[in-house]
Amino acid sequence: MGKEEKTKQAEEESVFQNRLARHHDELRWLYMELYGNDSMFAELCFQLNRFYQERNRELKARDLDREKNRGWYKTNDMLGMMFYIDNFAGNMKGVESRLDYIEQCNVNYVHLMPFLDTTEGRSDGGYAVSDFRKVKEKLGSMEDLESLTASCHKRGINVCMDFVMNHTSEDHEWARKARQGDGEYMSRYFFYRTYDEPALYERTVPQVFPTTAPGNFTWLEDAGHYVMTSFYPYQWDLNYRNPRVFNEMMYNFLYLANRGIDIIRIDAVPYIWKELNTSCRNLPQVHTIVRMMRMISEIVCPGVLLLGEVVMEPEKVVPYFGTVEKPECHMLYNVTTMATTWHTVATRDVRLLKRQLDIVNSLPREYVFLNYLRCHDDIGWGLDYGALMREGMEERSHKQYLNDYFQGRAGESNSRGELYNADPVTGDARFCGTTASMCGVEKAGAEQDPGAMERAVRLVLMLHAYMFMQSGIPVLYSGDEIGQINDYAYREDPDKAADSRYIHRGPMNWRLAENIRNGDTVEGKIFQGLSRLEQIRKAEKVFMTDADAWTIETHDQSVLCIGRYFEGEKMIGLFNFSEWEKTVQIDEMDGDYVELISGGKTEPDSVRIPAYGFCYLKKK
Ligand code: GLC
Repeated sequence: MGKEEKTKQAEEESVFQNRLARHHDELRWLYMELYGNDSMFAELCFQLNRFYQERNRELKARDLDREKNRGWYKTNDMLGMMFYIDNFAGNMKGVESRLDYIEQCNVNYVHLMPFLDTTEGRSDGGYAVSDFRKVKEKLGSMEDLESLTASCHKRGINVCMDFVMNHTSEDHEWARKARQGDGEYMSRYFFYRTYDEPALYERTVPQVFPTTAPGNFTWLEDAGHYVMTSFYPYQWDLNYRNPRVFNEMMYNFLYLANRGIDIIRIDAVPYIWKELNTSCRNLPQVHTIVRMMRMISEIVCPGVLLLGEVVMEPEKVVPYFGTVEKPECHMLYNVTTMATTWHTVATRDVRLLKRQLDIVNSLPREYVFLNYLRCHDDIGWGLDYGALMREGMEERSHKQYLNDYFQGRAGESNSRGELYNADPVTGDARFCGTTASMCGVEKAGAEQDPGAMERAVRLVLMLHAYMFMQSGIPVLYSGDEIGQINDYAYREDPDKAADSRYIHRGPMNWRLAENIRNGDTVEGKIFQGLSRLEQIRKAEKVFMTDADAWTIETHDQSVLCIGRYFEGEKMIGLFNFSEWEKTVQIDEMDGDYVELISGGKTEPDSVRIPAYGFCYLKKK
């Protein structure tokens, strides 16, 4: 080793030691609180150093830059897109060859949906991992992943992946050994000889998949044991009471981070700690674990962000940010806002949405939300029913209305889609469909109705314009940028037929994507409309995540108004959720405003907004 290299290594080591020193006491404290195991803690620290050493120099340099600029992901140019690798481009190499398209979409953050090894037919869309260090063969290899992340980084694109830490596939090596009766591995899961304890759990633990996978336990005939399976029977819950599970999963996390991942989406995080007589959701130990993960990432790979998947009501979501001194996740999904958006589409009544945005806007501005219209999962109707009740809307019948509406069976609906996990006991059901199908593109296309198509396209664009105006990072689902409709082919696939979420996980239609430059096509209209919005968002500082944001009364139940302010610049957005043209007056229109899409000047005392239209007004 040359002298230069030696100095470099010594420098690197001191960077690590400083980071470790910063977090050591708290990390040890929390670890001991949970596990009381000194030697396992020592092993963890030793491994952190090993993973740090293994991290390549480009990534280490990225970490240092980001440590200097901790708010790097809070800028107004951040735009995400999520896709399944095979659906988008066949395999990892295919994705690499499509980076030009991703750039054309103004996207600088791609979420590669689960791509680790899993068993075909028992994969839950990849969320049943059988090997955390192997890429699914048909998608490529770890080398392909490293090559893809490096290419993305060269273009300023961040890469996100799922870290499914609540469970493994029943085909994971640990599960196979546990099934054969190896006690060491059985203790990494929840095994029970009799149904006594499972029965106690079932009293208090709700069901995730009440129809497609009822119950939280699965009987293993060959092993003569029950095993805890909160999700599908082939997804075995890991037992984080066992420090071996925690340590090994942290090593897996760091191994993946070292492949060049920028954002780790912690899948189903509220579920990771189980305790009898509780709902087994959001227990305090979950927060201890996430806090430890945050410190571990800050020690080894501080350029990596943690994105928590917490699909819960707002009071449960926000604690996952942790506190300013002891942060947990960097980012969380704005799930209630997403569901409330579709409620607003179905009711043309913005009051609940306004209330919801007021709640989000009142949170500390350090919090970064991911905003989205839909993702790969169903839309659950987690709304503020207390507030709706005061308006005379009852939960069960309102959910029924929303599900009927989006299936195109109630109200003035143009939506198409399917129910998901309709629970005969609670009467609850969730909903699946693509943004375009839920906005009427599918129906208008089938009925060849140009007027209806125009309205549907306008609704798609208005919803995106509104989403872009929320604070945080907007994330598109691949295909939505060209208005892709539902894909019913899953019904013919025996591996998928029972899971209607596949209706909105169809393959990217590259033939339709050829139309993006043709403004006469649906694809062109949506793509170009979005491009315009993306350009404006990138250019205007008021879209910074930590700008001031608030809602404004419009005195019209169908028109939502959002204000944003940043360093002397002010913008007002108006969004018409109804199919009628509206003219509204807003008190806050002080002075002259220019409409950013048309460039036209606006009369301060009355603004005209077309049916399903929007205005982006900037103060001159
Ligand atoms: C998350 C995923 C979902 C999956 C579940 C189980 O909620 O988004 O698709 O079914 O976790 O891993």
